[in-house]
Amino acid sequence: MALLPILKFPDPRLHKVAQAVATVDDRVRRLVDDMLQTMYDAEGVGLAATQVDVHERIIVMDTSDTRDQPVVLINPELVQRSEAMSFRDEGCLSVPATYDKVARHEQVTVRALDRSGQPFDMQCEGLAAVCVQHEMDHLIGRVFVEYLSPLKRDRIRSKMLKRAREEQRA
Ligand code: NI
Repeated sequence: MALLPILKFPDPRLHKVAQAVATVDDRVRRLVDDMLQTMYDAEGVGLAATQVDVHERIIVMDTSDTRDQPVVLINPELVQRSEAMSFRDEGCLSVPATYDKVARHEQVTVRALDRSGQPFDMQCEGLAAVCVQHEMDHLIGRVFVEYLSPLKRDRIRSKMLKRAREEQRA
């Protein structure tokens, strides 16, 4: 397994639209394992392939307190969304140290393939529902800061660019 570099906002590659996975083979499983290792190492609850510059519809997540319940979603689709919405603070490994509230469906059901290519449905609420919607947005090239006001977004963009310059200098 290997740690993968995570793209940081406002990297334009975060806005690419991911393609469906044709076959869940060893290449995909290796990527999934690397993504899980990368997510756990970075202490994130979810990671989309887009964030590691692979533009295929793959998500890994773990919203358990014990950090031992990995979920793999390949070619995820939402098959049900509650009308009720909720607002929770969200963060993102591609936008470090930035948290803000985004409106999400309170409950969703996602249909996907697992690590062995088997289809399954998962009903999600709370943090898991937020995570699924946040990560699925990554697959269509959308970063959560795009839901914030233009003023906030510009402020985050400036902060991230400054941070990148400082890291380059270091
Ligand atoms: Ni994210």
